[in-house]
Amino acid sequence: MLNTITEEAIVIKNGAKTFQTDIENPTYVLKNVDLSIKKGEFYVLLGPSGCGKSTLLNIIAGFLDLSVGELHIVTSREENRDGRGFVFQSADSALFPWLTVEENISFGLKMKKVPPEKRKKIANTFIKLTGLLGHAKKFPDNLSGGMKQRVQLARVLANEPEILLMDEPFGALDAMTRRTMQNELIRIWKETNKTVIFVTHDIQEAILLGQKIGIMSVGPNSRIETAYDVKLPYPRDITSIDFNNHYKQVQTHFEDFSI
Ligand SMILES: Nc1ncnc2c1ncn2[C@@H]1O[C@H](COP(=O)(O)OP(=O)(O)OP(=O)(O)O)[C@@H](O)[C@H]1O
Ligand SMILES: [Mg+2]
Repeated sequence: MLNTITEEAIVIKNGAKTFQTDIENPTYVLKNVDLSIKKGEFYVLLGPSGCGKSTLLNIIAGFLDLSVGELHIVTSREENRDGRGFVFQSADSALFPWLTVEENISFGLKMKKVPPEKRKKIANTFIKLTGLLGHAKKFPDNLSGGMKQRVQLARVLANEPEILLMDEPFGALDAMTRRTMQNELIRIWKETNKTVIFVTHDIQEAILLGQKIGIMSVGPNSRIETAYDVKLPYPRDITSIDFNNHYKQVQTHFEDFSI
């Protein structure tokens, strides 16, 4: 099934961000950022360490404000903030260790006063979707890193966001688990039709996952230097010639600095 891309979900026009407030000529982490992400698109933000990827993702999440420029988020909800779900790099700090997998997943639903029976049903749906069957009653401390990341993803998905924001979610996983999770994420994205914005500094991961890669320049004054289209079918084969060609093209953007 191909995700149908029809309208824009996120637009930033001439965005800039500084963390300084009281000086005349502040240093901007982000400057002249233009970004357009379509509904249902898998968009990767790729850039060197410290360029401002997390800052930009946090702005899209609504955790931070732009200092200059406009951000438009289009979801079908009245309260836009509910339309966004954030998956953090570390599941350890995101999950509650005193709650089971199932309780962690249904925590947000409980806060929204969804009745217990319905909560259970929704939690089960996402336990299945994220491959956690058989682990519902376990506590996070008894799970591997990959499993914990599945729980975090299931918890975010249980709140049914239209936009999934992911900040280097697989960065702390070993190489094999990471590859499994990348493939799982593509499957889940196709099954759920979410708009995904995925931050990484890994060129291979960007090409493996993204329909479009927003390549960011080195900071300060970082911006989206190029929006690069990856027209490879899923699942993608990292050993193929086409993949390698894309890799080389993306890499040329980083020749002036080490990523
Ligand atoms: N709350 C803050 N206050 C002041 N400066 C900040 C704050 N958050 C980030 N910065 C600065 O903004 C710049 C971009 O940081 P950011 O964390 O967005 O980069 P990044 O691309 O996500 O890096 P990494 O790949 O290491 O995660 C850095 O110079 C950082 O020091
Ligand atoms: Mg970051």
